Amino acid sequence: MTQTIKVAMPKGRIYKKASELFREAGIPVRPDVDESRKLVIELPEIGMEFILAKPVDVPTYVEYGVADIGIVGKDVLLEESRDVYELLDLGIARCRMSVIALPDWTPGIYQRVATKYPNLASQYFREQGQQVEVIKLNGSIELAPLIGLADRIVDLVETGQTLRENGLMERETILDITSRLVANRVSYRMKNAEIQSVCDALSKVIPVKTGI
Ligand code: PRP
Repeated sequence: MTQTIKVAMPKGRIYKKASELFREAGIPVRPDVDESRKLVIELPEIGMEFILAKPVDVPTYVEYGVADIGIVGKDVLLEESRDVYELLDLGIARCRMSVIALPDWTPGIYQRVATKYPNLASQYFREQGQQVEVIKLNGSIELAPLIGLADRIVDLVETGQTLRENGLMERETILDITSRLVANRVSYRMKNAEIQSVCDALSKVIPVKTGI
């Protein structure tokens, strides 16, 4: 008997691309459920259930086993450092994590960096031998240097539009990012055949890297 697979899907910008990939893999996830208020979508005909989660919470659901597998950006995966298996690089939602500043930035004695990723940013500046104060924000990070909260920010760059529209400059790339398929360690053993078949179907439709 096959067992139901619970999938934690990130709401928001990754959802569209991830649901597209599932559909190409023959798993009929609707493109628009993200816009409704429904949080659990059952697909009993194919033995799957989709949980629509805040992206940053996906690794938590998977670690605790309330979702067997999940889709999550490498940025969140590294920042949250949850105990999950990384099964597959899905090659979608490609972007980079960078250090960003106003064009006239020069290193001062006391430096502040604003970011949604305090762990990754602290680790990066420690490795660079730079002493900085890291300030955690939850969004619109680009505001920080514009209004004087921080000298630099660590944030994601996809098209570069946000930087251009706010007169900011990318100074260093910390990390290239794509979405990953992750699994709960126990689920991976107990529901191995089911998880492996989702993994195989997705791996056949992963987009080819086009180089940024
Ligand atoms: C992300 C990121 C940047 C922007 C980059 O923010 O934090 O602000 O997208 O994309 P771009 O290079 O294509 O302009 P998001 O829209 O997720 O919202 P947030 O600012 O609330 O984090």
